[in-house]
Amino acid sequence: MSTIKALLHPFTTGMLKPPAQALMLRAHADAALDADWRQNLLCITGFKPDHDALLAGGFKVEAALPAEAGPFDAALCPLTKHKADSLAAIAQAWAALPVGGLLLCAGDNDTGAASLQKDVAKALGPLETASKFHARIFWTRKQEGEMPALLKGWLAGGATRLVPETGFHAGPGMHGWNKIDRGSKLLADHLPGDVRGRIADLGAGWGYLSAMLLKTGRHLKGLDLFEADAAALEAAKLNIQPLSGEPPIRFHWADVTKGLPRQRYHSVIMNPPFHSGKATDIELGTAFIQQAAHCLEKGGLMLMVANRQLPYEAAIDAHFKERRLVAEADGFKLIEARA
Ligand SMILES: C[S@@+](CC[C@H](N)C(=O)[O-])C[C@H]1O[C@@H](n2cnc3c(N)ncnc32)[C@H](O)[C@@H]1O
Repeated sequence: MSTIKALLHPFTTGMLKPPAQALMLRAHADAALDADWRQNLLCITGFKPDHDALLAGGFKVEAALPAEAGPFDAALCPLTKHKADSLAAIAQAWAALPVGGLLLCAGDNDTGAASLQKDVAKALGPLETASKFHARIFWTRKQEGEMPALLKGWLAGGATRLVPETGFHAGPGMHGWNKIDRGSKLLADHLPGDVRGRIADLGAGWGYLSAMLLKTGRHLKGLDLFEADAAALEAAKLNIQPLSGEPPIRFHWADVTKGLPRQRYHSVIMNPPFHSGKATDIELGTAFIQQAAHCLEKGGLMLMVANRQLPYEAAIDAHFKERRLVAEADGFKLIEARA
């Protein structure tokens, strides 16, 4: 069920008057977001596929909230399962509103919306609420006064920081932000000597695989990180730049499924995404495999880790000449393939 449909429910049913100028944080394209919203909504999303889909739909979109944007009479927050990230978005929305502005949130029941609603009521006082489409919907109006202390804490809690558990910079909402992905560790532990030359890291996240590759100290001609999540890519810069010696390193905010340069790389390393929203989506990984084959030179090497049960082998065989299982552990498999 669509969180955006739930979020817009108070407007579509007349419970709330549609705003003249609104802001939506963590926005994503959705059928419920009809053309009427194109003129009076500024969408903010750092996730490239959502950013591009909204732009293609004729919406105004920014990767981050510009300081001079507004004024807005409403701020809309679709909530996700990433609690700290959702709370940070709510605090950011509150900060962007004038006194009297409407703060409206909605989250699916199975992603912890009830708990978020409780937190917001504790910070901002009694809320108006509705329940529809298996989602909680709640809203309030901004009161006079300084940002409440709880909201200040939420802003800080959503920020990118040095994470003691990993020793790398990351923030809530990013994949594996406070623990090393076990699949990626399997890949890092088995980096073969012939991962060399010009390398692409597809779906690089906050840069773990690239960092581990650079830490081997081997000679590279270049390293390109491709990542859809703008905040993760910024964290990757913090993690990678101090490690970079000789090789030119480039950071690309990109939707890998939409295409990569042809035959540019000697090697590709990747732990592809396998979720679209809440659902497991093998098509995403399959598109990554196609793009890996496309961007590798002849004989180039792809090193890919995936959950053991995800059936990527047929897609690899369709696009690569050879495939080999390098290692299996902890429910993950590491596959090497030659273009
Ligand atoms: C399984 S995580 C791996 C992250 C990182 N490489 C690691 O090893 O920890 C997959 C990454 O792909 C990114 N991603 C998802 N869809 C993408 C797309 N269409 N294009 C580029 N990156 C994408 C996600 O944001 C996430 O950072």
